[in-house]
Amino acid sequence: VTVNVGIDVGGTGIKGAAVAQDGTLRHRSERQTPAQDVDAIAQTIADLVRELTDKCRADGDEVGAVGVACAGFVDAAGGTVLFAPNLAWRDAPLKARLDEIVGRPIFLENDANAAAWGEFRFGGASEADDMLLVTIGTGVGGGIVSDGELLRGSEGIAAEIGHLRVMPEGNRCGCGNRGCLEAYASGTALVREGRELVGGGSPHAGTLSDLCDGDPEQLTGHMITQAATDGDAAATELFADVGRWLGEGVASLVAVLDPELIVIGGGVSEAGDLLLEPTRAAFGRQLTGRGHRRQAEIVLAQLGNDAGMIGAADLAARRAGVTTAPD
Ligand code: BGC
Ligand code: NA
Ligand code: ZN
Repeated sequence: VTVNVGIDVGGTGIKGAAVAQDGTLRHRSERQTPAQDVDAIAQTIADLVRELTDKCRADGDEVGAVGVACAGFVDAAGGTVLFAPNLAWRDAPLKARLDEIVGRPIFLENDANAAAWGEFRFGGASEADDMLLVTIGTGVGGGIVSDGELLRGSEGIAAEIGHLRVMPEGNRCGCGNRGCLEAYASGTALVREGRELVGGGSPHAGTLSDLCDGDPEQLTGHMITQAATDGDAAATELFADVGRWLGEGVASLVAVLDPELIVIGGGVSEAGDLLLEPTRAAFGRQLTGRGHRRQAEIVLAQLGNDAGMIGAADLAARRAGVTTAPD
């Protein structure tokens, strides 16, 4: 049978999967994102495509299309990464480079758009024609499905919700501005706040400090999740802060978009209710017209952190015309 390959390029890792037409994963593989080097990232993507293609062939399957989701502004033609707050890409002709080294046409998409599409087609949003997906990882990404279509805007770069300004003169964001949602509601912000807490030497941060041997620079998001899961108050508060920013941000977006459903994905969403409960609470307090409108549900991405790969594979199959799946 024909399967498609989806690759998701993030600020820390590059993940790939062979995805069947029904959205299920056949094979998967992962590499670290090579430090800030465009060519090295392209080469790593090509290696992953080759590895997954070989695995599919060994099963007697063929690869129909290859989609690459990346954490940046992908132009409407799917050829160029115009800008990426957390990666080195600036007007990078990634498609041309990849077509050449992979030896077949590649379809590029923004990572959060791909994740939204994955959830819409095969995940928790398959019943909703209007949905908003927010990914919380190194950055904050957005994907909007409106009336069953991915919202692209005039240049392909709509739904960059991580760069909504939520705090005048606030924390610096990777995009260069201050006060972006991403500077408060991302995994990066979570770790930054955790490090500050540990660095301050407060006894309140005792568990977190033990986990990183007292060295704030060694503290990771996983450690904070672990501590919060074990009931540590300081770690739980760090998630509550991120959730509050996220919930208030989502309330503003809902004022504009009026979606049926809000889906939260990305690595930090693996913390589940630790993140979602404070998000829902802040959203409920902030939503304009609350009490006089249906309050859209906020749910976790059903495909978890795989949504981007699955969506990228399906979008590529559609664009290449190899899909047999019904709409
Ligand atoms: C970027 C988006 C991306 C998101 C999640 C943001 O910083 O601007 O393009 O979707 O991070 O990776
Ligand atoms: Na997006
Ligand atoms: Zn920004």
